[in-house]
Amino acid sequence: MRIGIPRERRPGEHRVAAVPDVVKKYAEWSWDVAVERDAGTAAGFPDADYEDAGAAIVENAHDADLVLRVGPPDPSEIAQIPRGAALAGFLDPFVAADVARAAVDRGLTAIAVEAIPRTTLAQSMDALSSQANIAGYAAVLVAAGATPKLLPMMVTAAGTIPPSRALILGVGVAGLQAIATAKRLGAIVYAYDIRTETREQVESLGGKFVEAITTEADEGGYAREVGEDAAAQQHAALAPHVAASDLIVTTAQIPGRPAPLLVTEEMVRSMHAGSVIVDMAAATGGNVALSRPDEVVHVDGVAIHGPTNLASMYAADASRMYARNLLSLLGRARDEESGAFTVDLADEILGEAAVIAGGVARHPRTIALLEGAER
Ligand code: NAI
Repeated sequence: MRIGIPRERRPGEHRVAAVPDVVKKYAEWSWDVAVERDAGTAAGFPDADYEDAGAAIVENAHDADLVLRVGPPDPSEIAQIPRGAALAGFLDPFVAADVARAAVDRGLTAIAVEAIPRTTLAQSMDALSSQANIAGYAAVLVAAGATPKLLPMMVTAAGTIPPSRALILGVGVAGLQAIATAKRLGAIVYAYDIRTETREQVESLGGKFVEAITTEADEGGYAREVGEDAAAQQHAALAPHVAASDLIVTTAQIPGRPAPLLVTEEMVRSMHAGSVIVDMAAATGGNVALSRPDEVVHVDGVAIHGPTNLASMYAADASRMYARNLLSLLGRARDEESGAFTVDLADEILGEAAVIAGGVARHPRTIALLEGAER
């Protein structure tokens, strides 16, 4: 059994799918690990550390029985994976039709971490959560680095500086970490989410919950899309808070749908010059009017950042957590007696995550994506 750890090719992607400590565990399972030269360098893990952990350093790690990636390989990289092998990572399985198509054509088994159920049992494998947690932290630091104001109150001989006011919109995994981080930096933190149960979570972190409409989550625990009237009510309730904020971090997402617009252009223009917004949903349409993926847009002195890979800013710890998520997931695919790698499609976690098995798309949303792309 040979695992391949390629170097990620996406510009700005500094994470890696296995760290030396985790390579040691695979070696204990008697799985051979081949790490591509410099795969971990940008995250602070030099080749020598992987060699010490028992890995071989190779020029092309796609030639393996199981390829572990952070982001999706492009179709030309998938063509380098042996027919019938397996691939695991953030594979964008409900959006990236070209990746899914190439994996099907190559007869691969594709294990997408996005499809891991968000259950207590799967918590140690939940890569969406581990990376969102880091991204929420990073978003506040981006905002804190860009604002001309201090976050904490300072009482000094040169006068008293009032604390900055932060607003966090969307209180899932990223939003909760953003609240905690902004609080630690000394800001006064307001937060809002449409899911009713988030009020208590915001308050328990010392944040103030913004009064706007809330609804019960769907059966999966996710927010539901709201209609135009409800969105207008939301905007009216949020507007005075937006105008009064120095920093805003938005994180709101609805799985499978474009991100909801929470901050309109008029609201952006109501903010004072020097305010900073970080729109974590920029890649899926944006929570903020005028935000653009991976750009900083300036509007009347307000800077709107749209970073799409915040977790990569803290690539060492993001990789450590992600590598442990994969290790935990693959532990379920390891036969206790023989040590062999087998994906049991009846397994409640692997069966969901294996969106393609042996070249056959199985997840309903991946099947729909491929059918849609053919039309
Ligand atoms: P997400 O990334 O899908 O969305 C972020 C936040 O945006 C959510 O809190 C959502 O309610 C909010 N949102 C969506 N539309 C909005 C709107 N119009 N206005 C305001 N806020 C809006 O969420 P994430 O972080 O992936 O978490 C999703 C759910 O899964 C949460 O309920 C979370 O508690 C749950 N979860 C459960 C886990 C477990 O049981 N093991 C692990 C991780 C998450």
